[in-house]
Amino acid sequence: MNAPLQGHTVSKPATAAQALLSVDNVSLEYRTPQRVVRATHQVSFEIDPADRFVLLGPSGCGKSTLLKAAAGFIQPVEGEIRLQGQRVEAPGPDRIVVFQEFDQLPPWKTVKQNVMFPLLASRTLKRKDAEERALHYLEKVGLAAFADAYPHTLSGGMKARVAIARALAMQPKILLMDEPFAALDALTRRKMQEELLLLWEEVRFTLLFVTHSIEEALVVGNRILLLSPHPGRVRAEVHSHQYDLHSLGGVEFQASARRIHRLLFDEGEAAQTERELDFTDIRIAY
Ligand SMILES: Nc1ncnc2c1ncn2[C@@H]1O[C@H](COP(=O)(O)OP(=O)(O)OP(=O)(O)O)[C@@H](O)[C@H]1O
Ligand SMILES: [Mg+2]
Repeated sequence: MNAPLQGHTVSKPATAAQALLSVDNVSLEYRTPQRVVRATHQVSFEIDPADRFVLLGPSGCGKSTLLKAAAGFIQPVEGEIRLQGQRVEAPGPDRIVVFQEFDQLPPWKTVKQNVMFPLLASRTLKRKDAEERALHYLEKVGLAAFADAYPHTLSGGMKARVAIARALAMQPKILLMDEPFAALDALTRRKMQEELLLLWEEVRFTLLFVTHSIEEALVVGNRILLLSPHPGRVRAEVHSHQYDLHSLGGVEFQASARRIHRLLFDEGEAAQTERELDFTDIRIAY
């Protein structure tokens, strides 16, 4: 458990008890001609099947970078990321990303064609099966009636649902979402959080979800990893499975939100917590 504090890679044998996704002592950097930017520093966490795991931290702490590394778009300069024991070295259909911008839907394809596209492009399914699967997931997100509509005729929330249906249709081992509802108005955002939880109840996918909203993290996640400001380091891991949208505004929920805020922004308390507990062992139960 103390391995993340040491600057070397730990190789583990693949076993059934292994986490679905393990991020072990991962440092990520961007190299520009002028300088090297360290986005995260020796970050470790493990995601188990059906977790709704949230990365929470201030802007610039490396949340998106970590997600891109889990997707295989960026390689760590230190440490390693494993999916079911296999080192992540490139993007693959077992890890699908949903981004914030819903204009990621090609406008010349209908809703159904958008959902079918990755299934066909990755040769996961033949056309007829892809169509069937696309309609199945469009139904799950409540958009069956809009299968033949074009994206520009949809609202922001509907585009978000198409993006989610498209990702789920690939039946990835893990769904990676980077602030997927940030561009939506507050009410639609709340509705999408609720729908995401309902979908999870039904499908039980594994989710890695990035947000800088404490409230969204508490509602969406069952576990929340708190990251320090740039470069991102693990500050604490919080269990939040007891909360959903019905908890909003409740006394306990507010207390948890305040405590997370203190852990994220109050150096004193976070530093003390880190001293008292082992690095990756910080699990604060509410
Ligand atoms: N393409 C890039 N080239 C150079 N530096 C980058 C690049 N992308 C991100 N960075 C830097 O890496 C750090 C982490 O960025 P990242 O986008 O992962 O943060 P974030 O936590 O997702 O922030 P936000 O909440 O604003 O989305 C920042 O300091 C950022 O400036
Ligand atoms: Mg980001």
